[in-house]
Amino acid sequence: MKTVWIAGAVVAAAGAGAWWAFGPTQEPSVEQATTAPVASGDSGQEMVAVTMPALEGEAAMGQRVFTSKCASCHGPNAGGIEGAGPPLIHKIYEPGHHGDMAFYLAAAQGVRAHHWKFGNMPPVEGISEAEVGAVVRFVRRVQAANGID
Ligand code: HEC
Repeated sequence: MKTVWIAGAVVAAAGAGAWWAFGPTQEPSVEQATTAPVASGDSGQEMVAVTMPALEGEAAMGQRVFTSKCASCHGPNAGGIEGAGPPLIHKIYEPGHHGDMAFYLAAAQGVRAHHWKFGNMPPVEGISEAEVGAVVRFVRRVQAANGID
């Protein structure tokens, strides 16, 4: 992930020369940074740089469930994966916008694409409600550690 940000900054710096005369350049957005021509075709990168808090108890269990059932699309730290699935460590998914119920429904029924362009999320097979509950604890802890609450 770090390389993406660095590359994004380099791209921005290269562009800055041209934009200099017109005033301060804008920070590259996450989307711009991740679609910048870094290493060729590196989908599979986490989209958002996630700060991981220390996890214990149910949140730690949730992390293990997340790793086996959700990380292939949402990223190992729920930071999203280019070309696979969105970051859950994102303002869109703060508790006030997507309550815990959204997670139970997503796992049980899948999600019709509406916020992003990744396509639909299929229902997740072989996951219990208790496991989803633990995943929610994990995601909420990580969200809070990243200022999303
Ligand atoms: C095959 C890929 C894939 C897997 C595996 C997956 N997701 Fe998703 N998920 C997606 C995509 C794509 C979206 C975005 C849909 C959209 O455009 O809004 C999404 C959206 C969501 C949302 C938002 C729901 C809403 O109401 O908008 C939640 C919550 C979620 N996923 C949780 C999970 C959890 C928890 C797991 C593991 C138990 C999981 N996902 C596994 C692809 C996946």
